[in-house]
Amino acid sequence: MSIRARVEAVSTKSYVLELLESKRGQNISGAYIAEQLNVTRNAVWKAVKELEKDGYKIKAVTNKGYCLFDDNDILSVQGMLPFLFDKKISDKINIHSSLESTNKIAKELAISGAEHGTIIMADCQTVGKGRYNRKFFSPPGHGIYMSFILRLTQRHWTTVPTLVTSYAAVSVCEAIETTTEKKPQIKWVNDIFINDKKISGILTEAVTDYESGNIQWIVIGIGINFTMPTAGFPEKIKDIAGSVFSEDKPTITRNQLAAEITNRILNIENNCDSNTMLAEYKKRLMMIGKRVIVTGLHESFEAIAVDIDETGRLIVQKDNGDVISLLAGEISIGA
Ligand code: BTN
Repeated sequence: MSIRARVEAVSTKSYVLELLESKRGQNISGAYIAEQLNVTRNAVWKAVKELEKDGYKIKAVTNKGYCLFDDNDILSVQGMLPFLFDKKISDKINIHSSLESTNKIAKELAISGAEHGTIIMADCQTVGKGRYNRKFFSPPGHGIYMSFILRLTQRHWTTVPTLVTSYAAVSVCEAIETTTEKKPQIKWVNDIFINDKKISGILTEAVTDYESGNIQWIVIGIGINFTMPTAGFPEKIKDIAGSVFSEDKPTITRNQLAAEITNRILNIENNCDSNTMLAEYKKRLMMIGKRVIVTGLHESFEAIAVDIDETGRLIVQKDNGDVISLLAGEISIGA
């Protein structure tokens, strides 16, 4: 096949998928698809066969056309498209079947000048990175692993990096809340829990201008356990890890949730009021009023979590009465 023919075949496949995704669960006639794409019905049939090879379950019924089954859950730009507020965003979404780490690639792209709003996603990560250089378990077919490159301009975002992480945590919670019946909670600073199990982690990495101290670019990496991994979670995390859908069948697709998160993250510059965002963050915070164990780099102590301040720091009261604000550290619920 010539390069031109191959390019045409790939783009036909991609447009056929877009049409099928836009009418999931419904029949679309081959003639209609062919007319929309200005190709032959045979080209549509070939594209459908290619999509089936990629794992899509498509029903072909004589005289009715093609129907993408509702339970297909393959990450794709076309699958996210119906749920994106701004369809133009789709040009900046790059989805891979496997990457070492979406944050790693996003950082490399940011260094080479990638635009604000560029998104790197993967179906699985071989070296998914968590905070404190931990690994983030990222098996194929069950999670959403995405990294956003942001070049922010508003002062509260460029001067207070912790706020961006809080914004991301609120975005993930809101995306889950609007698409499901679930009630996610935030464990300071950036872990999302459902039913006391961690279902998502966020890793923000940034480069700061040495002279001004302002952030040049930031990469927000979000990992979500969407459904339970087929072979379960590894021993080390099996008691704390959970997924958005654990015992229950997913009522949405990974594409829909990824799109809802994208809508919120990329709307960050329109959110000029960090107090409103912090109020949303605090509403979902798990540990306010509770006894917590704070594990820092150099020490570990017990305290009561009292509040968060205007920069997203956790305010805790130690047993000796001292009140301090924590910028980073690990928190676990105390006895
Ligand atoms: C944590 O829980 O400590 C943070 C986990 C962050 C994981 C996400 S998955 C997408 C992005 N790529 C990575 O390598 N890490 C982040």
